[in-house]
Amino acid sequence: MDFFKKPHIAGAIAASGNELSELITDLADLREARTVVEFGPGTGVFTRVALRKLPRDAFYLAIERDPDFMQKLRAEFRTARLYEDSASSLENHLAENGKKCCDRIISGLPWTIFSEQIQTETLGSAHRSLCDGGIFVTFAYVHSQYMPGGVRFKKLLKETFASVTKSHIAWRNLPPAFVYICRK
Ligand SMILES: C[S@@+](CC[C@H](N)C(=O)[O-])C[C@H]1O[C@@H](n2cnc3c(N)ncnc32)[C@H](O)[C@@H]1O
Repeated sequence: MDFFKKPHIAGAIAASGNELSELITDLADLREARTVVEFGPGTGVFTRVALRKLPRDAFYLAIERDPDFMQKLRAEFRTARLYEDSASSLENHLAENGKKCCDRIISGLPWTIFSEQIQTETLGSAHRSLCDGGIFVTFAYVHSQYMPGGVRFKKLLKETFASVTKSHIAWRNLPPAFVYICRK
């Protein structure tokens, strides 16, 4: 099972590469994080790097809606709390684990192909779940920022977060991508 077989679900033709995985996890500033959430881990490329950078006793929760990806994630990441669900259910899963909020959210979701309703619901849930001062990072493909879903998503980010900045471009990624860094 790979991205090539499910591009309509994954919103990508390949998993993110090393350059983007290092960039997004660096920008999430995981060294001081206590509670970290990942949306849409897919094959676990960000998960692998994030777990290496996290403090050992930090709590890591990931939500992936695809059952095939989830089966593989469960086999590899035994210390992470993994939920086969939609990212918009984050508040329930934090509560189940006795957490009021999280410090960081790393998103691998294909925001550009989401409808306006799914973008709004999912980003709203992310924002409500973040502690004050928390950081939300998500990547976007360079070409997709000019597509209608990409333009709408950028506007929504700016309406939702106190601060939104962009990283440099990871040119070696396929396709090239950058990271939005958003603070609550
Ligand atoms: C572009 S892939 C990214 C995977 C990986 N993070 C990477 O960068 O290679 C998007 C992932 O998000 C998952 N996904 C899509 N919509 C979702 C949703 N609403 N909730 C949770 N996961 C979702 C897909 O199944 C897929 O695994």
